[in-house]
Amino acid sequence: MTAAEAEGDERAVEAALRPRSLDEVVGQARVRDQLGLVLEAARMRGRSPDHVLLSGPPGLGKTTLAMIIAHEMTAPLRLTSGPAITHAGDLAAILSGMNEGEVLFVDEIHRMSRPAEEMLYMAMEDFRVDVVIGKGPGATAIPLEIPPFTLVGATTRAGLLPGPLRDRFGFTAHLEYYEPHELDRIVHRSAGLLGVELRPDGSSEIASRSRGTPRIANRLLRRVRDFAQVRADGVVTLDVARAALDLYEVDELGLDRLDRAVLDALCRRFGGGPVGVSTLAVAVGEERETVEEVAEPFLVRNGFLARTPRGRIATRAAWHHLGLAAPAAVADTALFDD
Ligand SMILES: Nc1ncnc2c1ncn2[C@@H]1O[C@H](COP(=O)(O)OP(=O)(O)O)[C@@H](O)[C@H]1O
Ligand SMILES: [Mg+2]
Repeated sequence: MTAAEAEGDERAVEAALRPRSLDEVVGQARVRDQLGLVLEAARMRGRSPDHVLLSGPPGLGKTTLAMIIAHEMTAPLRLTSGPAITHAGDLAAILSGMNEGEVLFVDEIHRMSRPAEEMLYMAMEDFRVDVVIGKGPGATAIPLEIPPFTLVGATTRAGLLPGPLRDRFGFTAHLEYYEPHELDRIVHRSAGLLGVELRPDGSSEIASRSRGTPRIANRLLRRVRDFAQVRADGVVTLDVARAALDLYEVDELGLDRLDRAVLDALCRRFGGGPVGVSTLAVAVGEERETVEEVAEPFLVRNGFLARTPRGRIATRAAWHHLGLAAPAAVADTALFDD
């Protein structure tokens, strides 16, 4: 329920809920201002804007902003992703087909192959690529001009991007988690688009359980709507929102079944740790990666769990959240660095 990645059918629904212009974007005031300026200046000069890098956790609006950039520039958008570019040739094919002023969106740009990355540096800087024909000593590089375009890269892991690639973006926007009042506005906006009748306290209940993430807020809204239609009179009130989210096992702080299972195992079975993540994963019957990448980031961010060199540790807040008394020795999270 609270995975930050979109899955399956969700993509189509998301497309309908995406803000289309910068004005419709809720929150991220600084990014909106800065990006607005970059685009406005480019429009005044009649040029393509500088390359833009969007970084931040899943579900915060990177794809949305990429589409908005193209929309605001009234430029066509081409979409691809790092994992889809396995050879430099894949990238050469995309780049050689670009028209002047187009926006190329590369999602998960940190997952592109090395040779493609190197080709991209050159394309970004000089609007040129060298297409290598043949192999070994007889190979020749044929330079190919590319019309000016704007690259928009998105990454959840800005730290994994090689410096030379990062440096070639003229503007980097780092998206932050949303405040509850911003999520509240997003839930209202989405409810309007979906034709859901929503009371203010119902909306803030959904917002406060959405882990700072618009994608999750929109998903919870859809599940609450189902509940409202089937078990109530269709109106999302506070009671309906609470009952629905309890049914889906998303608690007041946005923890879901897996999050609580991890904390529960950590506290009850391992005395609060330290315990290795693999052991913890076995205890909750999940893959290690799922525990590490799905549950832990949120638990760490909210100060429930600390990652230490000796293993995972439950904080005082974790014991408290489970309604358990913390052993006297439990330290404060502030003592641990992730
Ligand atoms: N600032 C925002 N205002 C309103 N809705 C947003 C905002 N950011 C994201 N969303 C919604 O959240 C969903 C996920 O956004 P998306 O751009 O796909 O995230 P990302 O690409 O970062 O994973 C979209 O359906 C969009 O409607
Ligand atoms: Mg995306």
